Amino acid sequence: MTALQTRRRFLQLGGLSAVSCALPGCASWSARGATSPLRIVFFTDIHARTEWQTPQALEIAARAINREHADLVLAGGDLITDGFQSSALTVAPRWRTYLEMHHTISPQPYPVLGNHDLVAALPEDGSRPSDDPRRQFLEHFKLARTYRAFDAGGVHFILLDSVDITGGDLKYRGFIDSQQLEWLDHTIARIPQGEPIVVASHLPLLTGFYQRTMGAAAAAPANRIVTNNLEVLDRFSEHNLLLVLQGHLHVDELLRWRGTTFITGGAVCGKWWRGAWHGTRNGYGVITLRDGRVDWRYVTYPWEARRP
Ligand SMILES: [Fe+2]
Repeated sequence: MTALQTRRRFLQLGGLSAVSCALPGCASWSARGATSPLRIVFFTDIHARTEWQTPQALEIAARAINREHADLVLAGGDLITDGFQSSALTVAPRWRTYLEMHHTISPQPYPVLGNHDLVAALPEDGSRPSDDPRRQFLEHFKLARTYRAFDAGGVHFILLDSVDITGGDLKYRGFIDSQQLEWLDHTIARIPQGEPIVVASHLPLLTGFYQRTMGAAAAAPANRIVTNNLEVLDRFSEHNLLLVLQGHLHVDELLRWRGTTFITGGAVCGKWWRGAWHGTRNGYGVITLRDGRVDWRYVTYPWEARRP
């Protein structure tokens, strides 16, 4: 079955609308009680750039992702590298490289904003900071907002913007601001209880990364996790938050807290194009949702790191 045939089958089976929605309050659909498996590719932390033949790696990754014949593809942020501290001019070739990958992938990925995708937030080359560091992300993907919701395959998807520019030593923190929390309240209120919800956030809402790499008592820095994660997670307490997809830490991790599975999705670039990071190689995740179950595997694609 070709990717196109698979896509058609997906659309027919779910009786659904896979609608990318940038407008406030957009929540089309319902395929209540849908039991057809939903196959998702979640690729994150691409860190697209032009050095070390990495555009070739992205071509290989895109082809590998297409061979998964996913019903739906999500890109978890850090699509380009180092936008945050660079000028618009500097990052233009990195966007071109990423967008080539993005437009090669079928079906078209839904992008989530990562900290590296902000452009000229705090430039280090003396150029003027942007008055809206999110503008390039919005323009490239023709979006009105960096957070949004849509429905597909009987599942409600919520994509968050988890980056808050702070300046200082940390430069930014993981945080869901009050405007977005208010939007989240409206979005959740429209979802019937029991129907499956998937949240995607670049910075993790829950992780054991620091406990596993630095010891059980280690605390996560504010620019590594969503600092007000409870304000987000508690909002779902009466709902079926089935899955949280997250990036940023570049490791392959799965946690389950009661009914919610938290997956940190490794990184397309591995250790920022230097090979494996804490044992996680360059790759992406394939998830199958079926009858309320979450199956996950992390898939590496063939690439030997060429960064000196
Ligand atoms: Fe990253």
